[in-house]
Amino acid sequence: ASNDKFIQDIPKVELHVHIEGTLTLDLRWKLTQRNGATLRLVPNGPEITARDDLYAAMDSIMPDASRMNNEEERDMFFESYLEGFNALQVKEDFYDLAMNYFETVAAMNVRYCEPFFDPQGHTSRGVQLETMMEGFRQAQREAKEKFNVRSQWIMCFLRDLSPASAMEHYKAALPYRDMIVGIGLDSCEPGRPPSLFEDVFALARRDGFKLTAHCDVDQEDTDDHILQVASTMGVGGSDRIDHGLNSAEDPALIDLLLKRDIGMTLCPWSYMRHTTYADLGPRIRTLFDAGVKVCMNSDDPAFMEDTWILHNVLLARHLCNFNDEDIVVLAKNAVQVSWADQSVKDAIL
Ligand code: ADE
Ligand code: ZN
Repeated sequence: ASNDKFIQDIPKVELHVHIEGTLTLDLRWKLTQRNGATLRLVPNGPEITARDDLYAAMDSIMPDASRMNNEEERDMFFESYLEGFNALQVKEDFYDLAMNYFETVAAMNVRYCEPFFDPQGHTSRGVQLETMMEGFRQAQREAKEKFNVRSQWIMCFLRDLSPASAMEHYKAALPYRDMIVGIGLDSCEPGRPPSLFEDVFALARRDGFKLTAHCDVDQEDTDDHILQVASTMGVGGSDRIDHGLNSAEDPALIDLLLKRDIGMTLCPWSYMRHTTYADLGPRIRTLFDAGVKVCMNSDDPAFMEDTWILHNVLLARHLCNFNDEDIVVLAKNAVQVSWADQSVKDAIL
């Protein structure tokens, strides 16, 4: 069996992490103080005025790792996630957010990553696109120099908002296309199929962006969403699927993923909130053994009890009894399904 040091040391690529989901309580406190802003953990919740109260308050409102079982808990997650956005106001805040992520994962041997950001969660608060992009840009440059962590950004659309809003943000972000490699789709999924956003994805595809979308685990319509993302999104289908774990139960979907060589970004700690070891291991194993290019990622580490990419690879090993060779396959999958330039890929593994 693989040891922890082997997993720590292996060069890593992270492809599914919401940068706003990396906002730790420490950093949130610091930014809120710096901005003279109000810190709440949920909208209209009590104001947190002492740093020492923060952790207990978070524990009491956030589902622990075993709870995201129903609509109420899921809504609570999204509400608290979006409430965190309020800490981010000026360029330096976005810089600090991204630098904290890059520095944290550099220590886990991440060499390249493609973080998501949710521009609509910022513009809706009156924060300009320029503010976030310039903060991200500076962090991206410095992370490459200081930490040897390369990155490109994925702009996600909040699927609970309108396709018109997605299109508006897509067009507004074109001046930053040198930083943005792909377009994604996230937020609350029930009743919001990828097909609603076909126009903006088709346009992005034509403009040369890579495409991905969340197909969250164990929802009523998840199989249909996986099929849409794999086959019709951007007309020809996406390059990757985020989550998509339910394809493990459908041989036809597995065939499609293999035929189209679609990568799949899994976040095992995230699934522990609504499923069990016994359920999860076999599903990941099925996809892995079938040859689907799955890789392990953190999703929202600061909202999941500080489980970062390293912890997700460790969990995957326990779930599936992966040996060293398997861990290497996972690492290579991440490199292969990443959207890095070939020269960057060649330098990683
Ligand atoms: N955006 C941030 N975290 C998310 C998650 N876990 N699912 C869907 N959208 C998200
Ligand atoms: Zn996600």
